[in-house]
Amino acid sequence: MARDFEAFKVRIEKEFLGHPVVVDNKYCKWFAEADLPVESVKHMVTQFSVFSHLFLIAALKKMINADSLESYFESKEILMNELGVIYRKKKSDEGRAAEEAKLAGESAVDPGLVSTEGTVDGGTYRNMAAHFVWLLKIGENFGLGFNDMGKRRHGTKSTVFFADELDRLYGAEDYNVCQGAGFAVENWAAAGFWKELISGLERFKADKMPALNVAFFTFHDKIEGQHKEHVWDELRECFDDEQFDEDVFMKAGVEMLNGVQAFWDGLYEDEMKAGRLGAAAA
Ligand SMILES: [Fe+2]
Repeated sequence: MARDFEAFKVRIEKEFLGHPVVVDNKYCKWFAEADLPVESVKHMVTQFSVFSHLFLIAALKKMINADSLESYFESKEILMNELGVIYRKKKSDEGRAAEEAKLAGESAVDPGLVSTEGTVDGGTYRNMAAHFVWLLKIGENFGLGFNDMGKRRHGTKSTVFFADELDRLYGAEDYNVCQGAGFAVENWAAAGFWKELISGLERFKADKMPALNVAFFTFHDKIEGQHKEHVWDELRECFDDEQFDEDVFMKAGVEMLNGVQAFWDGLYEDEMKAGRLGAAAA
């Protein structure tokens, strides 16, 4: 059966790129503009830590369920970097040695200093380079300790729902389900929510919390910018695979985006219930 890639792209643009969580994320829009109360940022950081920590399970499943050695390594790059292996740029040994010597001398690893490109192959593992550890550092500013963040029990119902959808779809055994969910997640991540969080956090830092290090967020924004470049090539490859099933792919992607939306809408409702939404910036 001949397949029409152009028609498929149109569907992607409508159903994924046009999804409400991509084009109209109420929470992130509010966050970018509001005079953020300390409690609001604390709540966001906590819920973010839960989904991003539980995401590791989905990422590991994606790696296990990979259908080729190449995609196994691709999934592993993401997972290992999350866990604390710093990307190593593909450059001369001399430059690399200097970079590693620089990092080795530091007890903390600042997300603002580590590479956002390259490979974990041959990279250095550092305790302090785990993304969850960066979030713990942020949490310290709000009085949050190790046992206050990143665990399922710290998640609200909607955060846990999102994490479970990641597990079910992003980590799925079915080729079309995990590909659809993976592509949808990349589209969402590249759509600009990092930038909205960063603009809210930078203003919050300037007004209320000078010690806050927002590099966790700027690091991820930079990474997304790079992912975006390869997205359509990857999609073409997936489309050409003999296992490809457009309807299963699309359904999984939309369900994944619904899960993402549940997360942000949950945060928005929490702000509404706490009466903190009215604090628009002057
Ligand atoms: Fe991360």
